[in-house]
Amino acid sequence: MAKPILLVTRKLPEAIEARAARDYDARLNPQDEPWSTDGAEIARRAKEAKADGILGAAGDKLDAACIQALPDSVKVIATFSVGFDHIDIAAAKARNIVVVNTPEVLSFATAETAFTLMLMAARRAGEGERMVRAGRWKGWAPTQLLGVTLEGKKLGILGFGRIGRELANMARGFRMEIHYRDIQKLPPEVEQGAIYHDNEDGFLSTIDILSMHMPGGEANRHWLNAARIAKMKKGVVVVNSGRGVSVHDEALIAALKSGQVRAAGLDVYDGEPKVNPGYFALENVALLPHLGSATIETRDAMGHRALENLDAVLLKGTTPPHRVA
Ligand code: DGY
Repeated sequence: MAKPILLVTRKLPEAIEARAARDYDARLNPQDEPWSTDGAEIARRAKEAKADGILGAAGDKLDAACIQALPDSVKVIATFSVGFDHIDIAAAKARNIVVVNTPEVLSFATAETAFTLMLMAARRAGEGERMVRAGRWKGWAPTQLLGVTLEGKKLGILGFGRIGRELANMARGFRMEIHYRDIQKLPPEVEQGAIYHDNEDGFLSTIDILSMHMPGGEANRHWLNAARIAKMKKGVVVVNSGRGVSVHDEALIAALKSGQVRAAGLDVYDGEPKVNPGYFALENVALLPHLGSATIETRDAMGHRALENLDAVLLKGTTPPHRVA
């Protein structure tokens, strides 16, 4: 029997491409050409290939127009990401296209990235690295590049899902006090001593460091705005490794300039890969290029998870374990 046709929009780790090519008639994108960000081009290629499934990734423009233009042959879209805000779920449902993602396997790596940013921001690591690299370092000095310690600080985790909870575990090792906001208070065995805030103002005014782990989408657009920043303590540190859309960049830039926000660490950007140029001149912001899940181990695990889900739909006719639509 002919193997199902799988359109793969991005270059994936070697082991994943090998598995895809073993089990599917896989149409790979070995050069990682940027057609994946153009929804019309994805649909055109799916049509040309008569694809049964699409293995896409964060950043693919799988919007309503793209999904409506897909050929009837497409039964499933798998995204090589936990986030699926780049996929129009309603449009997929309307066409009975199953959508699957890759949760769990990237929680630790993404929390590591948040923690990296937290340390970079609090300890001025980016600034120091730029100084050495530019040959501007004149030697050790007692008052040079003084940051703030994480020890004993109140860490506010916005979104206490898998990634937020991994971050809390790491932060406990730094003797931080964990505070969190979520839809509801979680059971004590999940909280492990973390303090729940049912009131947003109380949460904002309590914490020393904010780490954002919110899903993307319009509901969270510009959540971190001037009004919320003003409710936090002067000198708060802000980290975002969730989705860029939840930060109002102009408001954060103004607060970084005024010192209301001491320092920030960002891995994701509103409209990425574009980054608000207002950040570039600021020393007190650490900027990473969406590295959240970027470890060899995690990207392999994400690929296997995506393929497990595709296998369920296209090879076994069973319910995929990580279905979001
Ligand atoms: C995700 O999985 O949603 C990440 O942001 C992509 O690395």
